[in-house]
Amino acid sequence: MRTSRTTIRSRTRLRLAGALAAALVAAGLATGPAAQADERHRPAPTLAELAQRHGRYFGSATDNPELTDAPYTALLGSEFDQITPGNGMKWYATEPERGVFDFSQGDEIVDLARAHHQKVRGHTLVWHSQLPDWLTGREWTAAELRAVLKKHIQTQVRHYRGKVFAWDVVNEAFNEDGTYRETVFHKTLGPGYIADALRWAHQADPHVKLYLNDYNIEAIGPKSDAYHRLAKELRAEGVPLHGIGFQTHLALQYGYPATLEENLRRFSRLGLDTALTEVDVRMQLPADETKLATQAAWYRDLTKACLAVRRCVGITLWDYTDKYSWIPGVFPGEGAALPWDEQLRPKPAYFAIREALGGR
Ligand code: G3I
Repeated sequence: MRTSRTTIRSRTRLRLAGALAAALVAAGLATGPAAQADERHRPAPTLAELAQRHGRYFGSATDNPELTDAPYTALLGSEFDQITPGNGMKWYATEPERGVFDFSQGDEIVDLARAHHQKVRGHTLVWHSQLPDWLTGREWTAAELRAVLKKHIQTQVRHYRGKVFAWDVVNEAFNEDGTYRETVFHKTLGPGYIADALRWAHQADPHVKLYLNDYNIEAIGPKSDAYHRLAKELRAEGVPLHGIGFQTHLALQYGYPATLEENLRRFSRLGLDTALTEVDVRMQLPADETKLATQAAWYRDLTKACLAVRRCVGITLWDYTDKYSWIPGVFPGEGAALPWDEQLRPKPAYFAIREALGGR
């Protein structure tokens, strides 16, 4: 193809004009239609970038079977700076036979996170659910179970030393009324299993942050009071507890936990970090515009609550898309709980979070 001198000159002029416009936009001086178009094409800062401006992380849970979904992992890798394995580090997955450890699922997620410069929350060491059959299928003496628990915690924490920044050491230890949940651990070892678990984890990795994590503790009430009491005792005894994880599985039909910010603050005053660790806001299906708008307002408010409390270190969605939410499987007729829909399209909740984080 022949190119005339006139064409070259006009191309050069165009390039110069483009560079000038870009410089004006960068300097905030251009306001014309071209500048506005450029502004629209500038990639929006991610939730992670917006959260980092406040010294917080913004994360998502994920699960191994989902990692073959390329559009899903692309967004997971770009929008968030923190990941929690939804199942891959649970006891049934990591010690499927007594004394035989399998870290392949957790490792896969840690590797993915490293590739995207994301940090990982370890979830979870001691929980009554998703235990292996060898543990639930027989009776244990206290001495036997202590040895089993110590070995499980220390082997796993040692394996992930330097790779996870925090552990949910004990998950869901209390009932709604603030009494201890009657788990195999509590039944066999008494409430002291919590302090022991924290001490054993700390021995295995003195740098990792150790959390207790639970649901329905967002508002001030009997269950969050139980955590407050326990945390105060543990701190007074010098037990290595560093944070409380508020799972934040909310549901429109039960109302917004209006005391969330005040609650986060009272844990901060104990010298503890807090985090919103498993956030979703479910609704009765079908979703409609009104419900999605309320959901968006809740996501905005919970984000603002965390930002308002200095020691609330970050927010994690319990996966980011309705495509992989645990809700419909457990609460039939409910769902649409996450900020991205099943086609990975952002919902009003996504824009509300951005706004709360100071993005446009
Ligand atoms: O692995 C089996 C698979 O072999 C089988 O074919 C399939 C059939 O249902 O089930 C698979 O197990 C499922 C497991 O997740 C792994 O995908 C279980 O049925 C399912 O019940 C289990 O659900 C998990 C749930 O914890 C168990 O309580 C969810 O994915 C997970 O997101 C959820 O996470 C919990 C947190 O750990 C603690 N807080 C509450 C939160 C929501 O329940």
